[in-house]
Order: sequence, then C-alpha cells, then structure tokens
Amino acid sequence: MKIEEIYNLAINKGIEADFRGKEGVEKLLKRKKEKYEKLSEKEKEEFDLESFKNPYLDSRILNIAEDKEIKKILVGIDIEPAEILLAKEIGDIDLIISHHPLGKALANLHEVMELQCDVLNQDGVPINIAEGLMKERIEEVARGVNRLNHQRTVDTAKILGFNLICLHTACDNLAAKFLKEKIEKEKFERLEDLMNFLKEIPEYKEALKSGAGPKIFVGVEENRCGKISVAEITGGTEPSPKIYEKIAQAGIGTIVGMHMGEESRKEAETSNLNIVIAGHMSSDSLGVNLFLDELEKKGIEIIPCSGLIRVSRLDRK
Ligand SMILES: [Fe+2]
Repeated sequence: MKIEEIYNLAINKGIEADFRGKEGVEKLLKRKKEKYEKLSEKEKEEFDLESFKNPYLDSRILNIAEDKEIKKILVGIDIEPAEILLAKEIGDIDLIISHHPLGKALANLHEVMELQCDVLNQDGVPINIAEGLMKERIEEVARGVNRLNHQRTVDTAKILGFNLICLHTACDNLAAKFLKEKIEKEKFERLEDLMNFLKEIPEYKEALKSGAGPKIFVGVEENRCGKISVAEITGGTEPSPKIYEKIAQAGIGTIVGMHMGEESRKEAETSNLNIVIAGHMSSDSLGVNLFLDELEKKGIEIIPCSGLIRVSRLDRK
C-alpha cells in the first residue's frame, strides 16, 4: 500500500463508524463545498480543500519524503522528535503514524468537535443546547491549540526524510463504535458489571498492569448504570463542563469516557451522573488497533511505540 491509500482507508473506515452515519457525513461534506463556492477568490485560496473529502481534519498526511510501497510502520499515540529519532535508529521504517494530531491536523483539532453536537443530540440533548455549549468550547480549544509549536515533529520528519501521517478522530470513531455496540448488547445493570466488561477488553486489561486501567471517577460500583453514553470517546477532546447537567436531564445515567478534567468531574457529580473513565492511552490504542488490523491484513509490519498497546484481533475472529 502507498501512503495515500493508507490515509484514504483510515478516513473511509472512520466515516463507516461515524455515529452521524454515512449520509450525515456526506451532507456535511456537501455543505463545505457549497460554502466554498460562495467565497471570494482570495478566500478560496485560504480554504482547506481537503475538507471536501475528509470530515476529520485532525487526521492528515503531514510529510511525504518518499512515496514508496509501505511495508513497515512505526505507530505511536504521541509522535514527537524522539520517536522520529527512534525510527532512524530502527532503520527500515517506511512510514510513521501518530494517533494524536500534529502540524496542520493539530491546528485543526477543534474542527472535528462539531461531531459531538450530533452525538449529544442522539443522547437526547436538544441540538440548540448542544450547539450553544459546544460552540463556546470549540472556540476555547481553537485558541488553546493556536499557541502550540505545531510543526516541531513534522519539521523533524522532513529533516530526517520520514513519511509521517496522523490519524486521530478517524481511529477514535472505531473505538467509540466498538464500545457502543458491545455496551448496548450487554445491557449492564450496575457500574460493577460495566467495569468488569471493560477490564476484559485486552487493551484495558493490559493498562491495568501499569496502573492505567478503567476507573470510576464519579459513583460507586453498586450504582445502577441507567442509560450509558459513549459520546466522549470520539470528537476531538473534552466538551464544556456545563454540558453534564444537560446530559443528566436528557436521561443519561452513566458516561464512559477516555479522560476527564476536574471541573467536568465536579459538574458531573453535582448532576448525579456516573462517570467511568476507561483510560486514555488504552482507549486510543483500541481505536488505532482496529485500524491497524486492516494494515496487518495487507501484510504491513507494525512496530508499536509511545503508549500504543498493540492488540491484533485478526486471529480472534
Ligand atoms: Fe487521545
């Protein structure tokens, strides 16, 4: 496979798993195109044309040093200059894949957060409230990433001649769908049952060994789950702390997330929501692994690094 094929496969897999459905995503991409048509020539020059086909601008090709057949890849949750040097040390790495966004994809992280409006709406939060609270948070995230040194790792890859891509929401969608389907099928009664289920998923089982297994952030094991939401597994980063009161009012009893800040945790507690934090690196690994299995099927060799707990599901089917 070539780099572009790997990237397109990831985007397509992400769309297939998207909670908005394929039609919902296509509608969104069409809207982007219509918006573009209305722009002035000068504005068109600044427009990111990739957004016509990629609804996840936090997932991108960042550097093509040599457009060759990809046989061996180095994959990590966070790729920094240290990992690029690691690739050099290993020697025959054809492509480096980062999960967390870098370069232009990091600068665009906030763009994918719109996804959360629809997912919250599916959970019963009125769309006007979801949009209002998310708009505020999206602007905050956009300002937050603005100050970062986006290009640092990309520059290192360029200097050392490495192919580099990042796949963020495209992979997080796979983890979210995987968890949602299983949780809906099982119908857990208490948090204890939900925790036991999570601890059996290989990535979380492995994370437990290093002290990063699933944890109850709000609630106790005996609490009844009520309706479970996995809204926070995908969609860029954490929503506004103000959303928890609305989620509780919408009828959700328990949220399964990847990570949660203290302010959000307090808000969730006040709203009597149960919060189960599955784990950050482990949840990221789950989504990345589901995609990497597609590459393994094509004979690509995978070297995991930087927090990626590699689990192949190819032999489990
Ligand atoms: Fe992450």
